Amino acid sequence: MSKNRNIIEGRILSFDKSPFSKDFDLSSLKIDKKRIFIIDGIIESIEPVNFINPEFQDIEIIDYGDHLISAGFVDAHVHYPQTAIIASWGKRLIDWLNTYTFPEEMRFSNLNYASEIAARYIDFSLSNGTTTMASYCTIHPESVDAFFKSAAVKNMCVVGGKTCMDRNAPGDLCDSAKSAYDDSKALLQKWHHKGRAHYAITPRFSPTSTPDQLLALGSLWSEFPECLMQTHLSEQVDEIDWVRKLFPKARDYLDTYETFGLLGERGVYGHAIHLEAREIDRLSEVGASLIHCPTSNTFIGSGLFNMEDLTSRSLKVGLASDIGGGSSFSMLRTMAVAYEVAQLRGLALHPSQLMWLATQGSAKALHLDNQIGNIAPGMAADLVVLDLSSTPTISQRSARANDVWEELFPTIMMGDDRAIAATYVAGKKI
Ligand code: GUN
Ligand code: ZN
Repeated sequence: MSKNRNIIEGRILSFDKSPFSKDFDLSSLKIDKKRIFIIDGIIESIEPVNFINPEFQDIEIIDYGDHLISAGFVDAHVHYPQTAIIASWGKRLIDWLNTYTFPEEMRFSNLNYASEIAARYIDFSLSNGTTTMASYCTIHPESVDAFFKSAAVKNMCVVGGKTCMDRNAPGDLCDSAKSAYDDSKALLQKWHHKGRAHYAITPRFSPTSTPDQLLALGSLWSEFPECLMQTHLSEQVDEIDWVRKLFPKARDYLDTYETFGLLGERGVYGHAIHLEAREIDRLSEVGASLIHCPTSNTFIGSGLFNMEDLTSRSLKVGLASDIGGGSSFSMLRTMAVAYEVAQLRGLALHPSQLMWLATQGSAKALHLDNQIGNIAPGMAADLVVLDLSSTPTISQRSARANDVWEELFPTIMMGDDRAIAATYVAGKKI
C-alpha cells in the first residue's frame, strides 16, 4: 500500500532535555527554521530547509514561514463532561461539584447527549492546539464510549476512564464497589490500546469512594499495572478536612489512596496543592505524576501549586486545563496562569519551561512521551503551529522582541485560539 507523506516547515521547537533540569542550558535550545518529513503520521526526520528527500518527490511543502511549530499541547487532566458548565459562578470546590457538576454529569447516562458534548469538547480542544488529553468521563459507561469514539474520529491519542463514585454524590451518580470494578474492567478491556486510546482507572477522589470501592479499584490496577490510575489529591483545604473525617485512621490524604493500592508510578494525581512533607516524599519515592491545573486552582480558589519544590523532586509534573473547573480550553491561557501562579510564589517560569510543561512534561506525566509531546524522529506528528503575531496587541509587543523567547511570551500571555494557525493529528491537518 502506498504511504501517506507530508512535509511541513517553519520554526521548530523541540526539546532534548527538560528546561527544569539543573544542567539545562538555554542556548542549547535552537529554534531554527526546519523541514519536517512525515510518513503515515509519524515524524521521519527533521532537516534543514534546503534538504531534498528523494522519497518525498512531488509532495507539496507546506511552509508556515515564521510560525512556530511545536508538539501539540497535552492537557493532562480534564473533565470533558463539564464542557457546558465551564465558567459557572461563585462556588468553591464541594459546593461547585454539588451545584453545577453533578447535575450536569447526570445527563451523561444518555449516549446521544454524551456524544454531542464529547464531539464539542474535542473540537474546542483541537481548535486550541490540544492534540491529547487525559479525561475523566462520568460514572456512565456510555460517557466513556462517547469520549473514545469522538477522539477516534480524529485519530487522537487520548487517555480516559469511567469516573467511579459510590458515596457523597446524588444516588443517580453512584455506582458501587462491584459495579465500578466490573464496568471499569469491561471498559478497559474494550478501549485500552484500541487505536490510540489509553484507559485510566479513575476513582474521582477519596471523599466520593468508600474504602470498599477504593480497594476494588486498587485491585483492578494491580491486575492491569500497565494502565494509568488518575484521581484528585489535596486540592482545597476544606476537602482535606473532609477527607480526615471520612478516613480517621489515614496518616494524610495520600494515605487514603496508598492504603488501598492506589499509589504508584503510573498514578496521576490532579492538583496536589496542599501536600504535607510525608506525602511529597512518598510521591517522589514512587515517581508519581502531579498535574498542575492553574486556571482551575485560581477560579475555584484552591491555592498555589508549588512548582519550584515539586519540579526539584523525582516527580513528573504535567499541566492541565481541568475543564470545567478550569476557565479556558486553551493551553496558552493555562500556561499564562501557571506563570502568574508561580510569580505569586516568587518564581518566574521561562517560556521554554511553560511550553515544556504543556507538551513533554504532560506527555511524561501520562507515560506517553515515547509517542507524543516532542518533535523528533519516531514521534507522532501531532503538532500545533503558532502564529506569534495573531492579534494587534500581541504583534506590537512581539515586534520589539530581542529573541524568540521574547517573541513567544506575548502569545503565551495573551494568545488564544486565534494564535493557532494549524493543528495536526497524526500528520493530518485538522
Ligand atoms: N475533585 C473531585 N472532582 C472534581 C472535579 O470534577 N473538578 C475538580 N476541580 N476537582 C474535583
Ligand atoms: Zn479534576
